[in-house]
Amino acid sequence: MGQAGVNTVALAIFSWDRIQPTEDRWNFGWLDRIIEKLGKAGIATDLASATATAPLWLYESHPEVLPVDRYGHIVNAGSRQSWQPTSPVFKEYALRLCRRLAEHYKDNPYVTAWHMGNEYGWNNRYDYSDNALAAFRTWCEAKYGTIDALNEAWGTAFWSQHVNSFDEVLLPRHMGGDAMVNPPQQLDYERFGNDMLLDFYKAERDAIEQICPGKPFTTNFMVSTDQCVMDYAKWAGEVDFVSNDHYFHEGESHLDELACSDALMDSLALGKPWYVMEHSTSAVQWKPLNARKRAGELMRDSLAHVAMGADAICFFQWRQSKSGAEAFHSAMLPHAGADSKVFRGVCELGKALKTLSDAGLQGTELERAGTAILFSSESEWATRSETLPSMKLNHWHDVRDWYRGFLDAGLRADVVPLAYDWTDYKTIVLPTVLSLSDEDVRRIADFAKTGGTVIVGYATGLVDEYFHIGLGGYPGAGNGLLRDMLGIRSEEFNILGEEAEGEPSEISLSNGLTTRLWQNDVNVTGEHAQVLATYAGEEADEWELDGMAAVTRNPYGAGEAYFVGCDLDVADLTKLIRTYLAAPAQSQQSQANTDVLHTVRKSADAAFDFYLPRGKKEVELQGVEGEPVVLFQTERGEENGSYTVRRNGVLVVRR
Ligand code: GAL
Repeated sequence: MGQAGVNTVALAIFSWDRIQPTEDRWNFGWLDRIIEKLGKAGIATDLASATATAPLWLYESHPEVLPVDRYGHIVNAGSRQSWQPTSPVFKEYALRLCRRLAEHYKDNPYVTAWHMGNEYGWNNRYDYSDNALAAFRTWCEAKYGTIDALNEAWGTAFWSQHVNSFDEVLLPRHMGGDAMVNPPQQLDYERFGNDMLLDFYKAERDAIEQICPGKPFTTNFMVSTDQCVMDYAKWAGEVDFVSNDHYFHEGESHLDELACSDALMDSLALGKPWYVMEHSTSAVQWKPLNARKRAGELMRDSLAHVAMGADAICFFQWRQSKSGAEAFHSAMLPHAGADSKVFRGVCELGKALKTLSDAGLQGTELERAGTAILFSSESEWATRSETLPSMKLNHWHDVRDWYRGFLDAGLRADVVPLAYDWTDYKTIVLPTVLSLSDEDVRRIADFAKTGGTVIVGYATGLVDEYFHIGLGGYPGAGNGLLRDMLGIRSEEFNILGEEAEGEPSEISLSNGLTTRLWQNDVNVTGEHAQVLATYAGEEADEWELDGMAAVTRNPYGAGEAYFVGCDLDVADLTKLIRTYLAAPAQSQQSQANTDVLHTVRKSADAAFDFYLPRGKKEVELQGVEGEPVVLFQTERGEENGSYTVRRNGVLVVRR
């Protein structure tokens, strides 16, 4: 670890059985020795609460803590997080462990932070046990107050689901072949699952903090590729620093996806330093096919996280294990040993991070962009409902597509939770933000009225926070205010897909773009609304959409609102951004060279520019100002400020 420049270790995350081998035996000796050995070598410990997975003896003596799946089957022990978030018995054991750890390590100078649980929600997010049922009833009562309010919110008149008292409220357990759960009930169950785990985290944190005050707490979030597991906008304020586990997405969007996930993390960090708690030096072992990282990707990905605002780079795992479920998962020290490409890469990274730190990177913050793409966990959950016009809706992926579209158009966007304050941005984008409350719509309309540019996607604002459809035409959220702002009204959705055999699989737009999934039949209602593109051609005609508006712009107060009434791929979103959003975006951070991801981290004293090629091609940079700090797979040109950054290379300069 010394050789690699490691200075922090997250320790004992799955070691409850070692710390408490049986109910009445405690064993801290091994952990004391490791912490001391690390500490004396200058390596700090981010010590786990160790409650992520309980020892087998606990499951044997208290099988009632095991979660239950939606079919009523008990979820067996043997993997991780095999416990009910609402089990009072499990909580008692977990808090006892937290207190013992806090007492034992409260004065240990080498323990510098507490690492709570692990990826809360990964394996026990959906629990259908009787404990969960009782807790859900209490949660609903606290939320709605009266049973009438719940009946109204859940629309229980439909399918004879009227609830007479909170004792009749049900969890969305398996209901036979008919998988269509009442959407507001499902959405509340998602919120409930989030809240129960957040409460559990808080109880653990508070138990430790009472005994060991003053040390920072974190827990590793899961934001990457296909996951944004919990409503982290609610969690971020409950930790002292956020940390994330990011696993890469193979293929051409590898770096873009990483940057997009990090853009959300940087917003969740609330202006404080944040950690990449886990990523991989090379392949993982949990996909059907596990691609390794190519030469340089270990360094490139790590520095890309730094470029996007991360202040610490950690990996799962230090030593690649010899046995167990994750033996084929890459590590910092691989099976081959220290004489290996991976370990040499890890050592090289250690040096680069030290160089950046010595050059004053600590304390700098990522420069914000002028555009915020808004993300909402609630909409992410809502789009998974099996009751929608299309089951292909995916809010998180649409966020990513827009993010890539901006990069391809030479602009960087931030990703910001809908619930946060985004009023300082110039432009906001709402991609498939399916559910918007009246209050959300009011904030959005006020933003436009006072000069902002709002871009509303095709399946945004169809329902409110209770999953009630806004009436009078789509998108109906905000009692018509969203439609007013956009100056449009739509009556029907046109859904394409392989289900519709013999039907067109795509429809063209008058400006050359193509839609493949979802089209709104947009009618222009605003006096000054402009039609920017219509559906056009044979396929459009076949679906009675020919000549109908597809993309519109409406002046609203001092600002304007765009409606993108159909789905578009990244290339077409890029064209749209280039054509229509270049002007409002002009004052935003722009990057002339779209082959490169360019970010800036700043403090009062210095600015660091990061340049990373987005594709496989090497890129030539000219006129780069500042002193080079890191030149990884990068050559300096003859002319001042010129560089060649090769595939997976990174250039960092300091101004
Ligand atoms: C994370 C988890 C780690 C390890 C890793 C493998 O989800 O926190 O313990 O399993 O994935 O990629």
